[in-house]
Amino acid sequence: MKILYAASEAQPFVATGGLADVAGSLPKSLVEEGCECSVIMPYYKKSISAADQKTLKFVTEFYVPVGWRSQYCGVFKTVISGVTYYLIDNEYYFARDFGIYGYFDDAERFAFFSRAVLETIKHTGEVPDIINSNDWQCALIPVYFNIYYRYQHDMRKIRNVFTIHNIAYQGKYGFDLLEDILSIPRHMAMLVEYDGDINLMKGALEVADKITTVSSTYAEEIFDPWFACGLDRALSNKKFKTCGFLNGIDLDAHNPATDKAIAEKFSVKKKSGKKTCKSALLEKVGLPNGDEPVIAIVSRLVEHKGVDLIREVFDDIVNMGYKAVVLGSGDGEYESFFHEAQNRHPGKVSFVCGYVPDLARMIYAGADMFLMPSKSEPCGLAQMISLRYGTIPVVRATGGLKDSIIDCGDESGTGFTFLTYNAHDMLASIQRAYELYNDSKAWGALVTRAMKADFSWKQSAKLYIGLYEELYNWGVT
Ligand code: GLC
Repeated sequence: MKILYAASEAQPFVATGGLADVAGSLPKSLVEEGCECSVIMPYYKKSISAADQKTLKFVTEFYVPVGWRSQYCGVFKTVISGVTYYLIDNEYYFARDFGIYGYFDDAERFAFFSRAVLETIKHTGEVPDIINSNDWQCALIPVYFNIYYRYQHDMRKIRNVFTIHNIAYQGKYGFDLLEDILSIPRHMAMLVEYDGDINLMKGALEVADKITTVSSTYAEEIFDPWFACGLDRALSNKKFKTCGFLNGIDLDAHNPATDKAIAEKFSVKKKSGKKTCKSALLEKVGLPNGDEPVIAIVSRLVEHKGVDLIREVFDDIVNMGYKAVVLGSGDGEYESFFHEAQNRHPGKVSFVCGYVPDLARMIYAGADMFLMPSKSEPCGLAQMISLRYGTIPVVRATGGLKDSIIDCGDESGTGFTFLTYNAHDMLASIQRAYELYNDSKAWGALVTRAMKADFSWKQSAKLYIGLYEELYNWGVT
C-alpha cells in the first residue's frame, strides 16, 4: 500500500507543535510495518535549515490553479529513514520571514498547497492508495479531490483519510473567498459552508472516507459541544467513519540513555543518573540543590492547557514543599504571573519565558513530576516523553492524557490524574504525588513502571494500516 501523508509541518524540517512530531515519526513506522509512505509539506525556505535544504533534489515544476490564476509550483524530494519527503516550493507563498503561519493570506497559501498536493500526484505519476491529510491546513485536499480529481482515471482509486490533531483550529474564513481564492464552484459551496462562513475543516469532515483523531477518548469527546468548538453539529452524522488512535513518540529521539542534552545518561536499569540530572537542572535554572520534589511545566501558556488552574493554586503547590520549574510562553497575563511568582518565591520557583528545546530536555530528565492539567488535549506528547525520562505526570484525565496515563491509585499506575476541571481537584492529585514521593521505595517503583511504559508507534501504526487496508479493499466505487 502506498500512503501519502500531507501535513503543513514535519520533523526534521520544521516544527511548531505536535503535528510535526507525528508527521516525522508515524510515516517511519508505517514504512517499518511494510507500507510505502511519503510525506508532502510546503517548502518553507526561510524556516528550514541550510543543511536540510542541501539534501533536497529538484523533481519537477508546473502551474497550479488558484481561483482564476495559475501559480508556480516546484517539487523537491529527499528520502529519510525509508520515507520520501516531497516539499512544495513557491517562494511567494512559503518563503516568509516570520514563521510559517499567521499571515493575512493563510487561506490562500494552504489552498494552493492542497491543490499542489493533488497536482503533484498527477505530474509525478506517483499515485498513492491513500492520502492522509492533517488539520485545517490540508483540509482542502479531500475537498478538491472530490470536486476535481475523483473522476480522473488514474486517480479515482485514491481514498482520503482526514486526521484532526486539534479541533480548535478549523480554518474559518469569510464566504467571499469561495471562488477566487479557494477555487470552489458556487454550486459546491455547501461542502465548506458552516454557519454562514467558510470552515475548511468542516469540508474535510464532509467528504473524507475516514476521520481519525489522535486518541480514542478525543474521538468521543469531539462529539460533545464542550470540546467541539462549534463543529459538533457537523460531526453528529459522521460517527460511522470516525475513530481515534493514540499517537506514539519517536523512541530514538526521546531516550535518556542516549540524550546528549542531559547531564548524565540513565536508563530503567541504571537510574542513578536521574539524580545528577536533577542537580544540573536546578543549577541551570538558578535554584538551590535539595531533596524537595521538582514539579515541571513545559507548555504553551494558554488557557486550554489549564494554566488558569495552575495560577489559582500555584502558591499552595509551592507552600506544600515543591520547587517549580516553568518553561513556556504564550498569553501575557500568564507570563507576567509566572515572572511575579518567581520573585515572590525566591529559591523555589524558576520561570524561563520562551521555548528552549535543550532546556526542555533537561527538565524532562531532571524534574520529578510533570504537570499537564489541560482543559482538552487531543493526544499530548509531553506526558509520554516525561514517562520515558522517569518524570511522573500529573494530568487531567481528558483526551490522550486519559488514554496514556493510568492513575497510580493501583499498583499498575504511571501517574496521577484528576477528572473535573477544577484547581483543587488538581491540587489534591499534586498532594498525592507529594506524599508518594516521600516514600522512596514506592516512588522508585513508580518511576520504574513509568520508564517501562511502551509508547512506541508500532501499535498505532498497525491500527492506521488496518484502517488504510479497509479503505484499500473497498475497490472502485
Ligand atoms: C495537537 C494537539 C496535541 C497532539 C498533537 C499531535 O498539537 O493539541 O494534543 O498531541 O496535535 O497529534
